[in-house]
Amino acid sequence: MAKLAINGGLKVIDRQLGKDWPIFDGTERANLLEVLESGKWWRGGGDAETSKVALFEQGFAAFQDAKHGVAITNGTQAIECALKAIGIRPGDEVICPAATFVATATACILVNAIPIIVDIDPANYQISPAAVEAAITDRTVGILPVHYGGYPADMASLQEIADRHGLWIIEDSAHAHGSTWNGQGCGSIGDIGCFSLQMGKTLTSGEGGICITNDDELAEKLFSFHHIGRFPGRPFYEHHIVASNLRMTEWQAAVALGGLERLEEQANTRDSNAKYLEAGLREIDGVSPIERDEWVTRWNFYFYHFKFQSEDFGGISRQRFVEALAAEGLGGGSGHLAPIQKNPLFTDRNWGPACFGDNEPPDYAKVETPEADRIAATEGISVTHRLFLGGTEDMDLMLEAIAKVRENVGELQ
Ligand SMILES: Cc1ncc(COP(=O)(O)O)c(C=O)c1O
Repeated sequence: MAKLAINGGLKVIDRQLGKDWPIFDGTERANLLEVLESGKWWRGGGDAETSKVALFEQGFAAFQDAKHGVAITNGTQAIECALKAIGIRPGDEVICPAATFVATATACILVNAIPIIVDIDPANYQISPAAVEAAITDRTVGILPVHYGGYPADMASLQEIADRHGLWIIEDSAHAHGSTWNGQGCGSIGDIGCFSLQMGKTLTSGEGGICITNDDELAEKLFSFHHIGRFPGRPFYEHHIVASNLRMTEWQAAVALGGLERLEEQANTRDSNAKYLEAGLREIDGVSPIERDEWVTRWNFYFYHFKFQSEDFGGISRQRFVEALAAEGLGGGSGHLAPIQKNPLFTDRNWGPACFGDNEPPDYAKVETPEADRIAATEGISVTHRLFLGGTEDMDLMLEAIAKVRENVGELQ
């Protein structure tokens, strides 16, 4: 008789794990009502300092250990705004990883910069410092690491490379709210950190974003680039630079402020559940956790990733494993998208109106990132963050489901 649920057996997990997402309570309701009744639905005007957007900027920046925050419409535009504030010029080359969401790189093209896409480190799935070093040319101006899945990238090595070559660092922290590197909030380590508040993220306002920085001058520029070229303290209709309107609304900030109150506790819960899960994963043949580097002081992941090794898992494909696991009640996914340079926009060279001065993007079809390819194709497994918001009994159920598939892998061969 079949034991595996995919073959008609009983499933291991027959209840919800973790929590539903998004989470909200009376705080968001009260904040939204307050905005509605105030008649002040945007951050501009006389009360800009006390607006919900300003409160969110201050609260979130402090939470991530940064001095300044500038709230933005979304995470993609947060990166564009950061690149403008840091002084990007047409044809400048910016190094970013292959394993990320495409917006990391397209944000560069949207400001006429050229993303140079490099491989990741197979040990921790983060941008490889050696690959960064190898990609530097005399056109390189900065590094755009992603804390992929919320796991802090190797910032010490990246900073050392940046210092040696006179490069800036903008951290794409879209997955890393609440993650800490050597005790310091992700996004506050390099020159600017950019976050997304899109609905799946661990802090959300439906859509939204924020840039943080410890640099006073960059903070002023971020403010100006998100606010039609205005400068703080200057007359309202005095515009200093060509800039877009990237302002967050008071509605978004009302919701984000509620989530911010819960973020510390949720981040600790995710991190401690992940550590518990990791100990269990080590006991099962054919799966293993990402080994935690010593700099990872808190991993508040957007998705938790671990490794699947077919050769130690009865030779079945990752796809087969994911399907069998889903039947047991644990919906995982590869979550690991193909390396971004495989997207048609890169292979077809569809840059839209972007122009790169006297430089040209590389032939992305020839950009090789073997580790990112392999991990996306066969090894990486991801599980969404909300499943980690319950107790360790949920981790036990996940482990039980994985172990059951491993023990009965013969049914899948
Ligand atoms: C790594 C990364 N960077 C940037 C973004 C863009 O954020 P948004 O969707 O808010 O524009 C995302 C969105 O998922 C992302 O995953």
